[in-house]
Amino acid sequence: MAIQLTPIDRAKYAAARRAVDLVEDGMKLGLGTGSTAAWMVRALAERVREEGLRLSCVPTSARTADLGRELGLKIVSLDEAGWLDLTIDGTDEFDADLTLIKGGGGALLMEKIVATASDRMVVITDASKEVKTLGNFPLPVEVIPFGWQASRMLIEELLNAMDVMGTSATLRMNGARPFVTDEGNHILDLALGRIGNARQLSLALNQVPGVVENGLFIDICDAVVIGYGDGRVETR
Ligand code: 5RP
Repeated sequence: MAIQLTPIDRAKYAAARRAVDLVEDGMKLGLGTGSTAAWMVRALAERVREEGLRLSCVPTSARTADLGRELGLKIVSLDEAGWLDLTIDGTDEFDADLTLIKGGGGALLMEKIVATASDRMVVITDASKEVKTLGNFPLPVEVIPFGWQASRMLIEELLNAMDVMGTSATLRMNGARPFVTDEGNHILDLALGRIGNARQLSLALNQVPGVVENGLFIDICDAVVIGYGDGRVETR
């Protein structure tokens, strides 16, 4: 029985398939995390099966590593790979400058490390993630569990001092317990509404001692491939 894809999945698949066309034999690749990235991993595995491409793949989460292994991809660590040719990942928001908010799936730390250790980062997405101004999607900030409440207070104070709209930082939960990232940290989701100066905000957040990293990706993404429900694809 053929599986019926929803228009949103068709859009994600179309973008993923197009980005996977950029992959060449022998490449070292970064594999993103999330539902769009999962379509990319499937499309990549299909090319590997059909064309016998020899690739080394660095996943950005345990989930992506499991999926890649299951589909027969060669999974290596970033330290084994050293440097990557290309990373393909999803996003939660992107703007006209290709600045991103990522981390909806909780993998922002590994995603940022992997993307910045790559010659090129290509984002795959459906059109709903495009925004004029970033910030409608809550900004994920990864904090170490030790003293996370003090980190939250410091972040809220910082946002107030910077006059950033909205000051609530919510601890991400997984049922009744705090969500734990693959690196053993927690996530605070900042409901900002609008991010006026992403660079300033990112730098300021990363000055707070308990903050490990934030979900703003600035000057990291090289291209965005946008898929549509009818199978069309557009690259920015
Ligand atoms: C995970 C991410 C994802 O790329 C982002 O959340 C998009 O996910 P999806 O493709 O499922 O919409 O940043 O940390």
